[in-house]
Amino acid sequence: MERGVVPEVEVFADPAQLAEALARDVVAASRQAVEERGRFLLVLSGGSTPRPLYERLAKVPPPGIDWPHTEVFWGDERCVPPEDPRSNYGMALESLLRSVPVVPEHVHRIRGELPPEEGARHYTEEIRAVTGTNLPVFDLVILGLGNDGHTASLFPRSPELEEEQRPVVPVPVSPDEPRVARITFTYPVFRASHRVWFLVSGHDKASIVARVLRSLPEGSSELPASRVRARGSTRWYLDSSAASIWQTSRSGAHPREVR
Ligand code: 6PG
Repeated sequence: MERGVVPEVEVFADPAQLAEALARDVVAASRQAVEERGRFLLVLSGGSTPRPLYERLAKVPPPGIDWPHTEVFWGDERCVPPEDPRSNYGMALESLLRSVPVVPEHVHRIRGELPPEEGARHYTEEIRAVTGTNLPVFDLVILGLGNDGHTASLFPRSPELEEEQRPVVPVPVSPDEPRVARITFTYPVFRASHRVWFLVSGHDKASIVARVLRSLPEGSSELPASRVRARGSTRWYLDSSAASIWQTSRSGAHPREVR
């Protein structure tokens, strides 16, 4: 998707309807991927926002997601052990993965317990082993949005924003809670993906959502999430609270609501 093309925005009445609609679209994306390529390469987001989505995905009745043909990755991880309550892997395991027939060898967690450089190297090698390339084409990347405009662990004014070679990089102590070292995908990975879908909910994100969406289609280097573009579909899934400020000031130039 070329920079300048306006991402789609979908606004739903509340977090439950947001999770329901996004779960439905994730299932559809998974079935298209398995039909076309024999497997579904899914990248999960960290943070707390995705929990209702993961809990909803855990309840999707068969046929739903073809879990035996699904490979699960993360867009970033905090450098903490998997049993640490701050672990992105731990949250997804507890809210989704332990409730679905995903193949354990197809769950590719980032080794947060390793030193960041080593963890980034290990994840890069695992991605190459699974996908055969350093720059995989993921079928769907789910991302969140921090109040400073970060996404994954790409923070404003950070050197990781300039990374164009490595798909995965270590991030020294992050400027945002939890203030730990992290490991993150870089922009090239998102650009190569078929779909990058942002999931944002709650009033506390209304201001940053408005800033990011108003900065489109060009985006801003001060707002790392605004510069994310997928090869195919870049989409924002919002609840009405998160969209409340943006919706009061929309103009034709801004992203269009599609639902
Ligand atoms: C992380 C995430 C990060 C997150 C945003 C939003 O590891 O924290 O990858 O990018 O998506 O900070 O977090 P919340 O959903 O908790 O608001």
